[in-house]
Amino acid sequence: MSQDRSGIDFLIEPGPVGRGVIDVPGDKSVSHRALLLGGIAEGETEIRGFLPGEDCLATLGAMRAMGVAVEVHSATHLTVTGVGPNGLTAPDGDLDLGNSGTAMRLMTGMLAGQRFAATLTGDASLSERPMARIIRPLTAMGARIDSRDGKPPLTVHGGGGLRPIDYPMPVASAQVKSAILLAALYADGRSSVTEPAVTRDHTERMFRTMGVELSSDAGTVSLPGPQTLTGTAVHVPGDISSAVFPMVAALIAEDADITLKGVGINPTRTGALDILAAMGAQIDVLNPRELGTEPVADLRVRSSELVGGAVDPALVSLAIDEFPALFVAAATARGKTVFSGLEELRVKESDRIATMAGGLTRLGIRVEETADGAVIHGGGFGGGEVESGGDHRVAMSFAVAGTRANAGVRVRDVAAVDTSFPGFRDVMGSIGARIALGDDGVDDR
Ligand code: S3P
Repeated sequence: MSQDRSGIDFLIEPGPVGRGVIDVPGDKSVSHRALLLGGIAEGETEIRGFLPGEDCLATLGAMRAMGVAVEVHSATHLTVTGVGPNGLTAPDGDLDLGNSGTAMRLMTGMLAGQRFAATLTGDASLSERPMARIIRPLTAMGARIDSRDGKPPLTVHGGGGLRPIDYPMPVASAQVKSAILLAALYADGRSSVTEPAVTRDHTERMFRTMGVELSSDAGTVSLPGPQTLTGTAVHVPGDISSAVFPMVAALIAEDADITLKGVGINPTRTGALDILAAMGAQIDVLNPRELGTEPVADLRVRSSELVGGAVDPALVSLAIDEFPALFVAAATARGKTVFSGLEELRVKESDRIATMAGGLTRLGIRVEETADGAVIHGGGFGGGEVESGGDHRVAMSFAVAGTRANAGVRVRDVAAVDTSFPGFRDVMGSIGARIALGDDGVDDR
């Protein structure tokens, strides 16, 4: 996969991750939502702390292609001039959403309420990701969506006249929940979505600040439609899903003490902190405060003697993007760590259970892959070459592992890191990691 992007590798020299105070880039989920919701709101939405990663830039490009003006003051500071709920216009061509599942799923929900047709495409990875999970409920609401047997490209026909829905979600997915809530803004009557486990609630929080009447109780989110959003100021917190990489690098280092500033600690996102704490991690949550509608804090992380155990499956949906990094932490822990309930990881940017198990094994760790997780036996990393599967979080996880290996590590095909963490090497370098770029010398054209 990602033939179009391969060719860049990480070359990691093992070395001491030490001290430093670092900022991590803005939250990807919040950045996408600010653009989408701001675009269909009435009035302006000013976004500070925006993540200028490729995924969010794909959303930005798509919104512009549908007539939304976005003024870029700096890479992280934007103003979106909303066109109102019915002000989007048909794009001239297909909307290319790159690697981004969030962009595709949320945009499909939004497009279901429009009066024009649009086609959403993506890269090789996105083109294999399951979309039936949104097509089914949106079709039940009256949308007409063509797909390639449940996969992208998707053509959303629009046309108006959506019906409300009362939908128990079969999978715990904030993307599915958000797609339905976006369509529900256009439906005639009250829609409800019930999730089987708690998922990130950024859409609900932003809806509320944008004036939407919405109730949320015992796993059911419900809103009457039609409703209009009003532009607002959005302060994007640091992304805990990016923070986890320097965090794990510090935890597994010999003598590290780092502080990550302004990281989002929304309780629907902090499962990794709980999982790591149960493994013995020394992470102090300092200076907790509210940044707009999202809680943030500074996280002080010190080298820790991690111990394995059974990871509580109830925490999975609260740490869904952090498992590749958690696998690396487990690989250094005393004893074995048992991960279960992770079947959703098989349909992320890569099959993350398989790509992580494969790479860890290459680095000398004993891993037993299971249908819904893995059993990881703690040990030491050897050097070697591992495949990222074109997956940003897998690539960054193996870069972290490389800092603690007993010889150099090459991680293949890492260009996708820019989808979520532009500047990853600089941030890691500032705490002592030695990660260079290499060319794999293979012509993939
Ligand atoms: C996201 C939700 C999660 C997560 C993804 C971003 C979101 O996906 O993995 O990176 O912004 O809503 P699912 O909700 O499909 O698990």
